[in-house]
Amino acid sequence: MTWEALSEETIRQRVFAALTENLSYGEDAVLGLPGSFLDRRVFPPLPELAGFPLLSTVRANPNHIGCHTLGDSEPAFAGTQAIEREVITLCAESLLGAEPGTIDGYVASGGTESNLQALWTLRNALRESHGFGPGEVGLLASEDTHYSVHKAANLMDMPLFSVAVDPNTRRMRAPSVRDAIAQARGRVKAVVAVLNMGTTMFGSIDHADDLLVPLAEAGMPHRTHVDAAFGGFVYPLVAEHPELDLRDPRIDTLTLDAHKMLQAPYGTGIHLARKGLIHHVLTASAAYVPGLDCTLSGSRSGANAVAVWMILRSYGFAGGRAFCRELVARARRLCDALERANVRHYRHPDMNVVTMRAGDLPEGLAERHMLVPDKHDGPAEWLKIVVMDHVTDGKIDAFLADLRASQAA
Ligand SMILES: Cc1ncc(COP(=O)(O)O)c(C=O)c1O
Repeated sequence: MTWEALSEETIRQRVFAALTENLSYGEDAVLGLPGSFLDRRVFPPLPELAGFPLLSTVRANPNHIGCHTLGDSEPAFAGTQAIEREVITLCAESLLGAEPGTIDGYVASGGTESNLQALWTLRNALRESHGFGPGEVGLLASEDTHYSVHKAANLMDMPLFSVAVDPNTRRMRAPSVRDAIAQARGRVKAVVAVLNMGTTMFGSIDHADDLLVPLAEAGMPHRTHVDAAFGGFVYPLVAEHPELDLRDPRIDTLTLDAHKMLQAPYGTGIHLARKGLIHHVLTASAAYVPGLDCTLSGSRSGANAVAVWMILRSYGFAGGRAFCRELVARARRLCDALERANVRHYRHPDMNVVTMRAGDLPEGLAERHMLVPDKHDGPAEWLKIVVMDHVTDGKIDAFLADLRASQAA
């Protein structure tokens, strides 16, 4: 699982070549599309843009409507669609270990849309393969699962069965898994199991067997989605032997979010699905879109895919790994200091999230350093630090100095 870095010049040339392969609103006869380059009075086509492939793509404004890993697509933007296909391949095969050519996907608006798209696909797949009707496919997920899965439950009429986790290890508790499956069996005929590669509050990584083995033993029809929106661009790069990736044939769909740890612009969720699944959400009435539409989005900016591709290709696997391992080392140093200061906390060893017991932190510290609480309505139980590029050793040291001074006061 690796991919090469490219030089800045190679990246620039590739993006400009892709823009040339796209139809140009300015130079070609494009009379029927309801889109254009960005407004030329407000965003003039300055010559300096030639040095900035992403800004040039934003200005050219390609529309990546539809899914481009399937065959037919809108021909007007074939150049940048090819870059998006490369993003999907890099993520699915080079980061997450899928077999070549086995994954469909697209760059969605974010983790929420990628999760909705996945759960919609798997709900329909279960309905269509078994003849289940409305309300007969539920969701099974840990209590640490992101609220977008609760949104999906509401939106798509999928009862949600929640599994309790151990308060210290954040691992799903076996008796609670059994209870949740028993409850599900009493109310629905199948479930979509959701596993987390990096929970929002803790960065904890679920173990697939904790949920999937009891489900299989219970003989309950199910499909499996992995929400790697939070950890998908850290954990597989940092861990020596990552779990929960696309080498596991039980995993059907997976969400990544480039606008979190990959530091891409907002609007860069990544939806991945095993080939043979995405047709379950084909909207056949999207007749004016070449290749029809299998996505939740509709129109979306091709520049987002270009941004993700540029980051992945600038770092390569080795550069990405070195970057993420440095973040994790910084998080580890923070944890060592917390240990000495008697602040109880959780951190997965391959993640950059440090979640502290709120009760162990002096009053006012969280507000002064903008820690994020598990809840805003009522006293927080947990407070987290996400060690990203801007969370420097200097900022961590200032936090620790404040902690020690407040404890001593
Ligand atoms: C695990 C997880 N899934 C999904 C999401 C939703 O992502 P977005 O805010 O990009 O829609 C988040 C956001 O924090 C998340 O942490």
